[in-house]
Amino acid sequence: MPATLPLAENAVTDPFGRRIEYLRVSLTDRCNLRCVYCMPEAGVPYEDLDNVLSFDEIERVVRVLGAAGLRKVRLTGGEPLVRKNVPELAARLVRVPGIREVTITTNGILLPRDADGLFAAGIRRVNLSMDTMRPERFVEIARRPEYARAWEGVEAALRVGFDPVKLNCVVMRGINDDEILDFARLTVDRPLSVRFLEYMPIGMVSPPQWKARYVSNEAVLDRLRAAFPDLAPLSDEQGSTSRNFRIPGARGTVGVINPISHRFCDGCNRLRLTANGKLIPCLSDNYEYDLMAPLRAGSTDGEILQHARDAVAHKPVQSDFEGRVYRGGSLRIMAQIGG
Ligand code: 5AD
Ligand code: SF4
Repeated sequence: MPATLPLAENAVTDPFGRRIEYLRVSLTDRCNLRCVYCMPEAGVPYEDLDNVLSFDEIERVVRVLGAAGLRKVRLTGGEPLVRKNVPELAARLVRVPGIREVTITTNGILLPRDADGLFAAGIRRVNLSMDTMRPERFVEIARRPEYARAWEGVEAALRVGFDPVKLNCVVMRGINDDEILDFARLTVDRPLSVRFLEYMPIGMVSPPQWKARYVSNEAVLDRLRAAFPDLAPLSDEQGSTSRNFRIPGARGTVGVINPISHRFCDGCNRLRLTANGKLIPCLSDNYEYDLMAPLRAGSTDGEILQHARDAVAHKPVQSDFEGRVYRGGSLRIMAQIGG
């Protein structure tokens, strides 16, 4: 844990002593894309809107956890911006005592509409999911002809002044791995943090598909180093899950994120809340804990906090992505978890 953070005495702590400081909140399971690794082509039966946490309920959970050491909230989806008035929610969460930072992960399509509002609400850091720089490929990967709008989202994020603007690119062999250098070159004259994510065997990705498409971070770095021999490692941000580098003279940075090799489980400080009100202690297993029922049954703040503690008690010591798939895994898809 970063030594600079004061220890919340009533912190929510898991059985391995890790404190929960970071909550990822999925605002909706809906999305305006159908990325192949995330959603079935036909979509999924969406959660009934009555079963989706309201802004009041989300704010309450954040408030309860914010009084117990939570410091950071990330809004995710599905696509979070398909929900109405997200800037309003962001502004409310920014004001919750204890919360230092609210961020968002989006596919960018609706950012031209919402970027100003999100910035005004106090959001400064944005992650954009972007797997290709080629329009025809975008349709193959995201199954919607939204290439231009998604890139307009990137431009909107830069224009409004979010810092950093991170571009998350899931690398898939034979699909987009020939674009690694193109993405890296984007950082030369733009202040973008391009991050290459390892493909994970979860959600829609079956073990054979994963095996066929997986490209390790090391392979990505080998290619980057071959093209940019002076690629300079940067000292990692506290709590960061990526290893970052700079092409000499570049305005932005490139990085790799490796969920498979477990390198960040040790410092894992996160918890996930799904749109339908389930707490997910770990992305890599099926366990979920229902918070919706207690929220709607008039539980006190103390009881809500105790539920969060009970959920976090199920955090495994390490992720086990492969094991999970072979055990049969959950049918939950990424759009329902929010990454
Ligand atoms: N492997 C790697 N990344 C994934 N994401 C969704 N599914 C997978 C997967 N199977 C990414 C999205 C988004 C982030 C929230 O998670 O592309 O950038
Ligand atoms: Fe939508 Fe993101 Fe899933 Fe793509 S990965 S379908 S953008 S939620």
